[in-house]
Amino acid sequence: MKLHVLGSGAGGGVPQWNCRCPICERVRAGDPRVRARTQSSIAVTLDGARFLLVNASPDIRQQMALMGELHPRRGLRHTPLAAVLVTNADVDHVAGLLSLREAEPFVLYASAETRRALTANKVFDVVSPRLVTRRTITLDAPFEPLPGLLVTAFAVPGKVALWQEESEPVLGAATGATVGLILGGAGRRVAYVPGCAAVTDEVRERLSGSDVLLFDGTVYADDDMIRAGVGTKTGRRMGHVPMAGTEGSMARLADVALKRRIFIHINNTNPVLAEDSPEHHEVHAAGWEVAHDLMEVIP
Ligand code: MLT
Ligand code: MN
Ligand code: ZN
Repeated sequence: MKLHVLGSGAGGGVPQWNCRCPICERVRAGDPRVRARTQSSIAVTLDGARFLLVNASPDIRQQMALMGELHPRRGLRHTPLAAVLVTNADVDHVAGLLSLREAEPFVLYASAETRRALTANKVFDVVSPRLVTRRTITLDAPFEPLPGLLVTAFAVPGKVALWQEESEPVLGAATGATVGLILGGAGRRVAYVPGCAAVTDEVRERLSGSDVLLFDGTVYADDDMIRAGVGTKTGRRMGHVPMAGTEGSMARLADVALKRRIFIHINNTNPVLAEDSPEHHEVHAAGWEVAHDLMEVIP
C-alpha cells in the first residue's frame, strides 16, 4: 500500500489567501523552515495503477497536476482515479468534486449524512450522476473501493460542516457526519482521521494496532487562532481536538499501539508548521511527524 499526501493543510491552506499570521507571512517570504501546504486530501493505491482519493479539496486541480501518478495514462481521456471517498461535507473535503466533473466515471463514497448533504446541494450534480456512482458507506462494515483495499469507516466525534450550521451546532457527537477510516491492504493497516473532536476510548481502540496513523493536526492548542489574533474560534468549536494538553491527541494516543504517527490537516495558525518552533520540536519528541504535501507514506 502507498499513500500520497496531496494536501496536508486544513481549510484555507498555507498561506491562506487573506492571512498575515506569522506562518502565512513566512511562507510568502520564502522561509525554508515553513512550507506551503494545500488543503486536506490523500490518494491511496495498492498497485500504482488505480487510486482512491480520500477527500476532494478545492486545490485538487493543482494537486493532481503536481502528482504524476494521477495523470491520465492512455487514450485521449483517462484517469487512474477509480474512486473518491469524502470523510465529511466540509468545504475543504468536497469542493474539489466540482473539479472532477469532466465526464469521467468513478465511484463516490460518503456516509449517509454526508451523502444527504451532497444530494441537497444541486451544484454537485455537475458530477454526472450517469457516470459517477454514489455509494453510501455503511459504518463499521468493510468495503472494497479498489481491488484488495478494504476500508472501514467509523463515526468520530465531530459536528456538521460549517456551511450547514444553523444555530449553535451540537459539538462532539459521533453521528457519522464525520468519519475516520481504517485502510487495510497488502497486510498493512493505516488509519486516516483528518477531523476528530475528541480522542475518546472508542477512538483509541479503533486506531490501536495501525502501522500508520494520519491524524487531525488542525490546532496545537485549543486557542491557537485566538492566540494568533485571527479569530475567536477554539479548536473545540471547530470540531478539532488539540495536539497539546492532557486531553490532547499526543497525550491521549501516547500509549496506543501505533508504529508511526503523522499529523495532517494542519491549520495555518498552528505553530508546529514552523520547523524551528518549540512546538514543532515538542511534537517530534513525542514521536509524531508533521505531514507535508507530496509526502509518500509506505506503511
Ligand atoms: C474544518 O476542518 O473545521 C472545516 O474545514 C472548516 C471549514 O469549512 O472551513
Ligand atoms: Mn477542514
Ligand atoms: Zn495564517
